[in-house]
Amino acid sequence: MVICDPSSTTFFVPMLCDRLTIRPSRPEDQSAILSVERKAFGRKDEARLVDQLIPAPLNTVSLVAECDGLVIGHILLTEIEAPVRALALAPLAVLADYREMQVGSALVRAAIETARSEGFDAIFVLGDVFYYERFGFSSKLADPFSVRWQGRQFMVLELKEGVLKGRKGKLEYPEPFLR
Ligand SMILES: CC(C)(COP(=O)(O)OP(=O)(O)OC[C@H]1O[C@@H](n2cnc3c(N)ncnc32)[C@H](O)[C@@H]1OP(=O)(O)O)[C@@H](O)C(=O)NCCC(=O)NCCS
Repeated sequence: MVICDPSSTTFFVPMLCDRLTIRPSRPEDQSAILSVERKAFGRKDEARLVDQLIPAPLNTVSLVAECDGLVIGHILLTEIEAPVRALALAPLAVLADYREMQVGSALVRAAIETARSEGFDAIFVLGDVFYYERFGFSSKLADPFSVRWQGRQFMVLELKEGVLKGRKGKLEYPEPFLR
């Protein structure tokens, strides 16, 4: 369980972490982030994606979860071309030893707040419906938007109420997503 102090981005996770901090990633975190991505997914694809997207001249929201100084989780949002000002959420990763303690949820919620405060309208994600619906992501709202990975697992979250009403069209993801 994570206890969140709303006045800061420091959380307290009983047992494993004395202190969990959610903060923007820094260039010196890159190798730790790549390691988390590789270990969490058990393959290199997500680490490769992150390695290409973070240094690229793209708008990103990149946050890490730090447990007593160790990077144990990471989330990346990247701006995409869309009928509204939108980001794509991918990937989200938490090291296996730290799962089921709301670390992933803390990363998602912090990323949503950051995206909202930066003036974005929406966040698209391709992921587990059961996991993302709890944050307000909806497959139905994503239906009018076309991507090559259409389907129930393709969802969107409105960051401003009603901003997607009547909007439709094609989404263009940055090139590293298409490899
Ligand atoms: C998915 C992932 C980031 C979740 O991290 P986490 O810190 O364990 O997540 P949380 O503790 O915030 O989970 C909150 C809830 O989601 C559920 N959940 C966790 N992982 C899930 C998954 N892959 N699919 C569906 N539900 C999941 C948990 O059971 C928990 O449910 P509860 O609140 O009803 O008890 C982590 O399991 C991970 O890194 N997996 C490998 C990489 C991956 O698949 N990333 C893509 C995410 S779609």
